[in-house]
Amino acid sequence: MKSDVRRAYDEAAKAYADRLFDELANKPFDRAMLDRIIAKVGDSGTVCDMGCGPGQIARYLKDHGAEVNGIDLSSGKLEQARRLNRDINFIRGDMRALDGVADSTFAGIVAAYAIVNIPCDQLPSVFREFKRILRPGGNLLLSFHIGEETLHVTDLFGVAVKLDFFFHLPITVKDLLAAAEFAVDEVIERKPYPDVEAQTRRAYMFARRLA
Ligand SMILES: C[S@@+](CC[C@H](N)C(=O)[O-])C[C@H]1O[C@@H](n2cnc3c(N)ncnc32)[C@H](O)[C@@H]1O
Repeated sequence: MKSDVRRAYDEAAKAYADRLFDELANKPFDRAMLDRIIAKVGDSGTVCDMGCGPGQIARYLKDHGAEVNGIDLSSGKLEQARRLNRDINFIRGDMRALDGVADSTFAGIVAAYAIVNIPCDQLPSVFREFKRILRPGGNLLLSFHIGEETLHVTDLFGVAVKLDFFFHLPITVKDLLAAAEFAVDEVIERKPYPDVEAQTRRAYMFARRLA
């Protein structure tokens, strides 16, 4: 099976939005993480919701006082994000090579489960781009599924897809962030919420771009 990330998310975009746009209502831990990055960024600039999907993270950030933009690879996801968040700007981009985004554009990046379809050997390109588009001292919040396995998914919320999910080890991600010249301030792990989400252990990392 050959994973086709863009096509999978294009085709499942509406189903994904229907299922997950309101998910934060049931995830107090995730809301607390977002509150923390909002406080860290303060009024220093715009936060990027990277791999924004239908834009539920961007929505929360905006509703809690942040200036926010969203970036995603999938046009279908962007269509949903724009439909659901008419007051937020979303653009198409590939986080491994964000050609259209200038250096030091953002004061913060929230990449919520955005690297879950990125294999480990491509994370250095992603973190190089995160560093480039963040201002010196800019804040990053990254979340992902913990593990070493690759999950081949053929059904995403009732839509037939070919999509690989890559789990990552916190120590590996931490080392790759450090190699990309980030200071990793905190790594927090949590158990999955029962009945709310996939039953995987999760990691949340706060990091800062070094000057
Ligand atoms: C698991 S979803 C997470 C979406 C949203 N952040 C959330 O928390 O529900 C992963 C998202 O990352 C996007 N994505 C995957 N690979 C990407 C890439 N290389 N560049 C930009 N976005 C990408 C997908 O289109 C999808 O919307």
